[in-house]
Amino acid sequence: MHLHKFEKIWLVFGMASLVLFLLIIGFAAFWKGTHPQSHIETIDPQNVEAHEAFKPENLGLREVADGKYTVNIVASAFNYDFGTDADGKAVKKIRVPKGSTVLFQITTKDVVHGFQVAGTNVNMMVEPGHVSRLETVMKNTGEFTVVCNEYCGVGHHQMFATVEVYE
Ligand code: CUA
Repeated sequence: MHLHKFEKIWLVFGMASLVLFLLIIGFAAFWKGTHPQSHIETIDPQNVEAHEAFKPENLGLREVADGKYTVNIVASAFNYDFGTDADGKAVKKIRVPKGSTVLFQITTKDVVHGFQVAGTNVNMMVEPGHVSRLETVMKNTGEFTVVCNEYCGVGHHQMFATVEVYE
């Protein structure tokens, strides 16, 4: 079949337009944030320690400014790792004063977990390969239970910790 010169030009133009169109759609849909706000950053789930926030010595609660705290946590089946205390024991409870601003940063080494601080607005899904973040102001005093609300296996119900907000 012989193609007229102009036919060829228009064919190429048409194809190029289609490719360009798909690229723009693809860029808009996949690279510019189809993920929810809390999942902006990606991480290697096999090597979470490579991330500054998830180095063993940086886990748990830290006061970063007056009344501002960061809590770094690594979830895995079936545990929340908040680091260890001075005696080398696993931390299962963090304490912050009422009215403090707390940024929770959490990731997982294995499967999807949940991170909900019952009684507060902290409720995140934790996916392997992502860093979930949520900042909140602790307005009420009390002991709040951290629970995993994504079924993650036989020990799912054993995943818990406590956040205490004191006066
Ligand atoms: Cu972790 Cu359910």
